[in-house]
Amino acid sequence: MQYKTINVSASRCYDIHIGQGLLAKLGEFIRPLLGECRLAVLTDSNVDTLYGSAIMDNLAGSGYDACKYVIPAGEASKCADNLLAFLNFLAQEQITRKDAVIAFGGGVVGDLGGLSASLYLRGIKYVQVPTTLLAAVDSSVGGKTAIDIPAGKNLVGSFYQPTLVCCDTALMDTLPKDIYRDGCAEVIKYGMILDSALYDKLQSLPFNRDEVVARCVEIKRDVVQQDEFDNGVRGLLNFGHTFGHAIEKLSDFGVSHGEAVAKGMVIASRIAPLCGLCDVAAELSQLLEIYGFDISCEYGADEIFDALLSDKKRRGGTISVVLPRAIGDCALVDVELGELHALLVKVMG
Ligand SMILES: NC(=O)c1ccc[n+]([C@@H]2O[C@H](COP(=O)([O-])OP(=O)(O)OC[C@H]3O[C@@H](n4cnc5c(N)ncnc54)[C@H](O)[C@@H]3O)[C@@H](O)[C@H]2O)c1
Repeated sequence: MQYKTINVSASRCYDIHIGQGLLAKLGEFIRPLLGECRLAVLTDSNVDTLYGSAIMDNLAGSGYDACKYVIPAGEASKCADNLLAFLNFLAQEQITRKDAVIAFGGGVVGDLGGLSASLYLRGIKYVQVPTTLLAAVDSSVGGKTAIDIPAGKNLVGSFYQPTLVCCDTALMDTLPKDIYRDGCAEVIKYGMILDSALYDKLQSLPFNRDEVVARCVEIKRDVVQQDEFDNGVRGLLNFGHTFGHAIEKLSDFGVSHGEAVAKGMVIASRIAPLCGLCDVAAELSQLLEIYGFDISCEYGADEIFDALLSDKKRRGGTISVVLPRAIGDCALVDVELGELHALLVKVMG
């Protein structure tokens, strides 16, 4: 079986294996890292239906005693109730410090599983087995874990790196089209912020999934290694997200994350030339439309501005936004809030 391994060197060093059919090698990958131990698999209802027995059979076949906890599919599951329920499950199963959690699913399972592992017994090891494109290129890499609370998304979490990421790209064959496309928005983001060659490759569909996932993971790895705790360059990964989060919020999450990020990247690209940077908005819009994204924005400047005032990237009177200098080269720019409002009025009316 052919696969690629990318090594991350952060507060914990770990390998990310990427390839078709890798779920069949999960136990084999885990053995040298964890030795004899018990494994607690966290997954969601959809992934469990499709692949629950495959993962449990693989772990049993590799000699592991594994237990499984299934949460309902969907963002609403990334909540405090499920965090506590899963922690309680780990205790009931008598999971100890030498045991580990396996987060088997998309970003919801990955974030909840990672946070649970960071808290249980003050921290046990965990393995990410991403099953969505977004989780493969983004949430399973870099150690950000979180749950949502009523005051906002991802407001409670930790930086806690996994021990291993095992990404079986064949699992994405069963993703609903819109979920796969949400991941494509993040892939296009990587091309825009740091890699024009990747961006060019994305012009022809379908792209080579293994190659593209591996390149995105390398880009994220490089950024995380420079700024694990998100105090600087990691902010580049927010390209399109500041405006995207505002759109998600205004739509009461009716607009999907990927579509909101696509719209947000276009808004940022329209602002860039007004700040003396290049104008790639038309080119980017064209690519996003090839992927089927609706890049129009039904909200006006005032609404977007009000919604982004609570953004985590806001620092007093300024907010950090990511603007393109060229395709494959973005910059973090601190913009004074009044100026940002004026820029939004100019590009959105
Ligand atoms: N930690 C990070 O760095 C980071 C980065 C980006 C996003 N996130 C988080 O990730 C979450 C979004 O992740 P997501 O888009 O993967 O959502 P998700 O986990 O909700 O998965 C989307 C849907 O796809 C289904 N699914 C998963 N794998 C499947 C498969 N192989 N076949 C068929 N269906 C499958 C799920 O059941 C779910 O219904 C958000 O909570 C976001 O905050 C975290």
